Amino acid sequence: MIIVNTKKYEIPENIHNKKLSEYIREDLGLTGTKIGCDIGVCGSCTVLVNGEARRSCKLVLSDVEGCEIITIEGISPQDGSLHPLQQAFMDAGAIQCGFCTPGMVLSALALLLKNHRPSRAEIRQALKGNLCRCTGYQQIVDAVETAAKTMYPNQ
Ligand code: FES
Ligand code: FES
Repeated sequence: MIIVNTKKYEIPENIHNKKLSEYIREDLGLTGTKIGCDIGVCGSCTVLVNGEARRSCKLVLSDVEGCEIITIEGISPQDGSLHPLQQAFMDAGAIQCGFCTPGMVLSALALLLKNHRPSRAEIRQALKGNLCRCTGYQQIVDAVETAAKTMYPNQ
């Protein structure tokens, strides 16, 4: 059994060796998780596993038995509004093609859950495993700073 975005899923024995990235996209239809390199280098497949940013292309289902997974589809409120990180990425122009964005947002969320006021250096450190071929990173760091202030205004 795994939990994805608060829903429980029983994993059939015959797919225990399936990659988490493929399961999320193919079996659950959650295509917000992107597969770029598929070898653990680019970070585009990042999801949260028990609150930690993990590369889903480097995990198989048996690795995450009993774990709570959050994908990009699971971070926004039920009312359809955007998560503060999603809004900040849009407002800062931190998105161009968008392929890296779900992984970036989830790596940033893992950081902000632990560190409510990261420095720009800490943001860069947390995102160093997420490659973006478009934006140049400056606006991405800006967006994470802004989201931190929105999420934790009294820090
Ligand atoms: S697709 Fe997983 S790290 Fe690139
Ligand atoms: S926005 Fe295109 S790879 Fe980052």
